[in-house]
Amino acid sequence: MNNNKKYGFDTRTIHGGSTGKNPNNALNPPIFQTSTFVFDNIDHAEQVMSFKSDDYVYTRGNNPTLRLLENRMAELEYGKGAVAFSSGMAAISSVLFSFLKPNDNIIVHRTLYGSSYSVVTKLLPKYNVEYKIVDLTNLEELKTAIDGKTKIIYFESPSNPNLAIINIKRVAQIAKDKNIKVIVDNTFASPYFQNPLLLGADVVVHSATKYICGHGDVVGGVAVAKDKDYIQSLKFDYMCEFGGVMSPFNAWLLLRGLKTLGLRMRQHEKNAIEVAKFLKNHPKIESVMYPGLEDFKGHDIAKEQMNGFGAMISFEIDGGLEDVKKFVEKIKLAQLAVSLGDCETLIEVPAIMTHRGYPNEKLREFGLTDSMVRISVGLEDYQDIIEDLEQAL
Ligand SMILES: Cc1ncc(COP(=O)(O)O)c(C=O)c1O
Repeated sequence: MNNNKKYGFDTRTIHGGSTGKNPNNALNPPIFQTSTFVFDNIDHAEQVMSFKSDDYVYTRGNNPTLRLLENRMAELEYGKGAVAFSSGMAAISSVLFSFLKPNDNIIVHRTLYGSSYSVVTKLLPKYNVEYKIVDLTNLEELKTAIDGKTKIIYFESPSNPNLAIINIKRVAQIAKDKNIKVIVDNTFASPYFQNPLLLGADVVVHSATKYICGHGDVVGGVAVAKDKDYIQSLKFDYMCEFGGVMSPFNAWLLLRGLKTLGLRMRQHEKNAIEVAKFLKNHPKIESVMYPGLEDFKGHDIAKEQMNGFGAMISFEIDGGLEDVKKFVEKIKLAQLAVSLGDCETLIEVPAIMTHRGYPNEKLREFGLTDSMVRISVGLEDYQDIIEDLEQAL
């Protein structure tokens, strides 16, 4: 089913990327739990090591379980190939390093996942790569920021934690004229709700830990691109050399999780719409950030570029950090935890948890207030999630 676009999304999550029968006619693919692969003879070794054969050498470079996951993800994101990584951060940092060299610069949106922000603002400058933080919802600001040394525009849409929606198509048009690569972190939407490569992005990255897994039992990452040569280079010059390889067992769990991605995303979103409506009407809630709300700033762009609005919501409680602490401590059903995309509803306070890497003045400047709470709406009955929030408020 390689890049066979005639099947629907749910079918591709189950069958996509398969290259034939499984050993012993097993319904499910085996976990190839092996570090190395045996060559038939020196000629065979020569063929494989020089990429003249697709056979396997060593799991840090490739493995059949990983290849199946990569092929399936490439189909789901309409790419020509994918690379699996040990974590979302391994995918993101490898992709950034693959395009950048000293004296280049990178433009990023104001709000990013905390560790991505740290890579950009702390690690890259050590290698003389400058960064520019821009409000990418304002395309004029982007145009002004671009200069002759800009190599990458990197952002999340919807962004973590405040669900900012960035117009991927418009950003890609601006970048294309100047030969700048557009890299989109699609973790919040998942390939079910959004396909950035179809909107003009060059590379899409995922924390597969989240919706792709869906069950909170794997840490993993994936990068997908339209350019097959780039994927080959990302895999063998970066993933394989930095060594951030995914384990075959995790790839197998992700293949299992993917089978229900569409089913889960539909239910996640259904629940999130109910939760967002509840929060919007609650007197103790100051603001609700959810792209599905008609009066949310990015709603119209989200409607255009996404197939739905997802299940991540942030909201501000009337009060400060002390009130937020009281609120989260009263929560019974939802779990106080970082991460997202699991069956369980997860709740967290970005300013002191996922985004504590941001300096305080930047948290304030970018609107990540002490009274902000982020909720990853799970798959429980939505009435129970709402009842839990209500009693805690
Ligand atoms: C939007 C986003 N990107 C990337 C990451 C990093 O992924 P991982 O924890 O799999 O390294 C996260 C983690 O929360 C995230 O929320």
